[in-house]
Amino acid sequence: MMDLIRALYPLRTYLVISGVEKPNVMTADWVVPLSFEPPLLGVSISKKRHTYSVIKRVWEFVISVPKVEMLEDVWTAGTKSGRNVNKFEVTSLRTKPSMKVSVPSLEGCVANIECVVEREVETGDHVLFVGRILHVDASSEAFSGELPRNDFPFLLHLGKDVFTTTSGEILRAGG
Ligand SMILES: Cc1cc2nc3c(=O)[nH]c(=O)nc-3n(C[C@H](O)[C@H](O)[C@H](O)COP(=O)(O)O)c2cc1C
Repeated sequence: MMDLIRALYPLRTYLVISGVEKPNVMTADWVVPLSFEPPLLGVSISKKRHTYSVIKRVWEFVISVPKVEMLEDVWTAGTKSGRNVNKFEVTSLRTKPSMKVSVPSLEGCVANIECVVEREVETGDHVLFVGRILHVDASSEAFSGELPRNDFPFLLHLGKDVFTTTSGEILRAGG
């Protein structure tokens, strides 16, 4: 299994927002586009996550694309559980209303992808939530025309607490 992980990484790192009255945020590498028509996006979430039970209940989620400068908050979102702590109180991440779903989006991100759950697929110790994309809010700073900018520093996860960016820097999380 670790060889498979080594073979696939680095992967881009995302944030998953769930919940409405008490929103929660968790970090996820396992996010994958699934279909153009209809527009579908998958996120694979362990049943142990608080996010799993919240998505099961609300049946919506938002995938946010963090900036490199948000690494410490990305790390907190990926190492603390919303079951025990309000991550919006211990990070500088802030929500803003979404356009098409009741789950909020995140301020200051490269993009927010608003999804309603179409289907839940059991995949071993994770569950793949297949989301139908209702709205994408992408900041123009990361793109030149239709393509992402080649010099925009997207956040990539190498493994453990080690990250890099598309500009080739090594970044360490956790202080
Ligand atoms: C970089 C990184 C990537 C992660 N990717 C995933 C993922 O794709 N799926 C998953 O279930 N957990 C993933 N995790 C673990 C969760 O983010 C972590 O367990 C988090 O504390 C769950 O928060 P919650 O209980 O509030 O939902 C990742 C953690 C990190 C640090």
